[in-house]
Amino acid sequence: MTEINPVTTLTREGDVAVLTLNSPPVNALSAQVREGLFNGFKAAAASDAKAVVLICEGRTFIAGADITEFGGGPTGAASVDDVQKIMESSPIPVIAAIHGTALGGGLEVALCAHYRVAVPSARLGLPEVALGLLPGAGGTQRLPRIVGVETALEMMTSGRHVPAPEAARLGLVDEIVEEGGLREGAVAFANKAVAEGKPLVKVSANNARLEAAKGHPEIFAAFRKANARKFRGFVAPESNIRCIEAAVNSATFAEGMAEEHRLFRELMAGPQSAAQRYYFFAERQANKIPDVPADTPVRPIRKVGIIGAGTMGGGIAMNFANAGIPVVIVEVQEVALTRGLGVVRANYERTASRGGLTAEQVATRTGLITGSLEMSALADVDLVIEAVFERMDIKKEIFAKLDGLCRPGAILATNTSYLDIDEIASATKRPQDVIGMHFFSPANVMKLLEVVRADATAKDVIATVMKFAKQIGKIGVLVGVCNGFVGNRMLKQRQNEAQKLMLEGAMPWDIDRVLFDFGFPMGPFAMSDLAGLDVGWVKENSKSATVRDVLCEMDRRGQKTGAGFYDYDAERNAKPSPVTEGIIKDFMARTGAKPRAVSDAEILERTIFPLINEGAKILEEGKAIRASDIDVVWVNGYGWPVYRGGPMYYADQIGLPKVLAKMQEFQAAMGDEFKPASLLERLVAEGKTFADFKV
Ligand code: CAA
Repeated sequence: MTEINPVTTLTREGDVAVLTLNSPPVNALSAQVREGLFNGFKAAAASDAKAVVLICEGRTFIAGADITEFGGGPTGAASVDDVQKIMESSPIPVIAAIHGTALGGGLEVALCAHYRVAVPSARLGLPEVALGLLPGAGGTQRLPRIVGVETALEMMTSGRHVPAPEAARLGLVDEIVEEGGLREGAVAFANKAVAEGKPLVKVSANNARLEAAKGHPEIFAAFRKANARKFRGFVAPESNIRCIEAAVNSATFAEGMAEEHRLFRELMAGPQSAAQRYYFFAERQANKIPDVPADTPVRPIRKVGIIGAGTMGGGIAMNFANAGIPVVIVEVQEVALTRGLGVVRANYERTASRGGLTAEQVATRTGLITGSLEMSALADVDLVIEAVFERMDIKKEIFAKLDGLCRPGAILATNTSYLDIDEIASATKRPQDVIGMHFFSPANVMKLLEVVRADATAKDVIATVMKFAKQIGKIGVLVGVCNGFVGNRMLKQRQNEAQKLMLEGAMPWDIDRVLFDFGFPMGPFAMSDLAGLDVGWVKENSKSATVRDVLCEMDRRGQKTGAGFYDYDAERNAKPSPVTEGIIKDFMARTGAKPRAVSDAEILERTIFPLINEGAKILEEGKAIRASDIDVVWVNGYGWPVYRGGPMYYADQIGLPKVLAKMQEFQAAMGDEFKPASLLERLVAEGKTFADFKV
C-alpha cells in the first residue's frame, strides 16, 4: 500500500490499482482531497497497473465540492479540473466505484472516469441548484451528453438524487454491483474492461445525444414554460438551462465549458447563492444543541400513538407509516375515527393514482396505521403525540390519563401550536418525558417540526425527538415555550400589520402582491381565503366588528364559497373584488379612518420588520438557540424564499441599523407596539449582526 497523502492510498488487486479516498465526513473535494486524487492517478498511470478504480471509504462517494471552501482564495493545490483532466486522459481505464451519494463535484469527477459502477443503494445527482449554483466542473456539459437534454434539464434544475438503478437505465452508471461488494465488483469490472479491450470512453467527446436536440429550441421553451411557477424568483435554474443550451449550440466542448464557467462565476458572486449556501449550513446547524451533545443516548421508538384523528392527527400518522413505523390513532368517537382513517387512505390513494406510490406501498402504509377508541391502546407505545383541539383543560385531562397508562420512559408529546407546555406537563408526574412536537399543516407534506423544550424536558427526550424528526423526513428546530413558539409568534406580527395596512388604504391584493413578489408563495389574504375565513369565526357572536366578520356574514368565506377577500371564478382564479373594496371603504368610513396612499416599500417594511423585531425578542429571551434556527423555521414552515436566507439573515444583509431606524420611525408615528427589541438596539450599538449573536 502506498500512502499518497493523509486522505488517499493506492493499493493493488492484481493488475488493478485501487485509489482509496478517506476524508470524513463526506469525502468533499477539499484541497487535500484534490491533491491526493491528482497524485494518486498520476502514480497509478506511472505504475504497471492495467486499470485504476477510484473508491471511497466511509458513508459515501465524493458528495461534492467542499462548500466550506467557497469564497476562499486559491489554495495552490490541484484544481478539480486538474483531477478531471488526468482521469479523462489516463492511458489505462479509470473506473469510479460509487456508494452513498455521488453529488455535484463528486459526480462531475465520476463523469471523467471512463466507466462507473455503483451499488443499488447509491444515488447520483447534480444538486448545485439548491445552493443557488450550477455544476461548475463540466457537469452541465457532460451530463446531457450521457442522459440527453430533457433528462439533464430535469436533473439539474431539481437537483434530484437519482437512485443507482435508474441511473443505470439512463446510462449514467455502466454496471450495478452487489450491495456490500463494491470493491470486488469494481475490480472485476476493471479486469473485464482490460480483457475485452473496452475503449477509454470520454464523455466530453460523445456528442450524439446533443445532436438530437440541435435545432429544437422548443425543448427549452417548453421546459421553461412548464416550470415557470417552480422557478419563480430563483436565478440558478435559468443559468442551469442556459448551460445545457450552450452544450447543444456550441461548436466545441471547450466553448460550452467557457459559458458554464462564466455563468458559474456570476451565480457564485450573487446574493442568492450566498443566501442558499448560508441556508445549507443553517439547516445542519439546527441539529446542534449546545447542552445536548451529539452522543446523548436516545430512546428507542418502535411504535407511536396519536390522539385525535383530525386532519393534523392523520397527517402526522402518515409520516410514521411512511418511515415504516406502526402507529395507533386513538379517537373518542367511532365516526371521527372512521372518517380520519378514510382521509389517510384517500390521501395515499391519490398519491398512488398520480404514480407516486405503488398499490403495494399503499397497502403497507395503510396497514401500519390502526385505529382504536380506547386510550388503553397507548399502553405499549414509545411515543404519544396528542393532536386534539386547542383547549388547555382537555389537554391536561389527556396528559393526566397518559401519565396513568403509558409505560415508564414513553415520550409524551403535544402538537399544540401555542399553549403552555409547562402547564400541560404539570398534569403528569413525569414532566421530564413531556415535549412539544409542533407539526405544520399539511403534516405529511410540510418539512418543519418545531420541537418545543419545556422547563423539565429531559435531554435524551430532546435528542430522541430531534433524531427521529430526521428519520421521518422532517427538519427539527428546537424552540422554547412561549405563545406561538417561534414561527406563529413572528407570523402574528405580519398578520396584524397586514390587517392594519388594509384599514389605512392598502387593498388586500396590493399587500399580497408585494409579499408574493418578495418571494412568498402567497400573501396573507390569499392564504386566509385558502384556509377559509370562517376558521375560528362563530356566526352567533359575529357583530360586523372586523372586515372578516362582514365577509363571513355575507357568506364570503373564502375559496370554498367562491368568494372571500377575492372573487373566484370556476377555476378558482382570484380576482380583486369590488365588493371587498366596498366593504373595506365602508368599514373605514364607519370608524372614521381616512384612506391614504400606501407605497409598496411601506407594505414590505411594515409587514417584515416587525416580524424580524419579534425574532430578535425571541432570541434575547432564549426561545431559539441562534438566529439561523429562526431562518430554518421560516424557510420550511412559512414559505420564506430560501434565496433570501430567512428573516434574520435578510435583516443582517440589509443592515440592522436600517431595520432599527424604521422601527423607531414606526414607533414615533404609531406607538409602542413597534418598540424595537433591546437586542436589536444592542447589536446596532455594538456594530454586530444577528449572526454574531450567541446565547
Ligand atoms: N462540503 C462541505 N461539507 C459538507 C458537504 C460539502 N459538499 N456536504 C456535507 N457536508 C458536511 C455537513 O455540513 C455536515 O457537517 P457537520 O456534521 O459538521 O454538520 C456533514 O458533512 C454531514 O452532512 P449531513 O448532516 O448533511 O449528512 P447526511 O448523511 O444527512 O447527508 C449528503 C449527506 C447527502 C452528502 C448531504 O450532506 C448533502 O446533500 N451535501 C451537499 C451535497 C452538495 O450539494 N454537493 C454539491 C456541492 S457544490 C459543487 O460540487 C460545486 C461544483 O460543481 C464545483
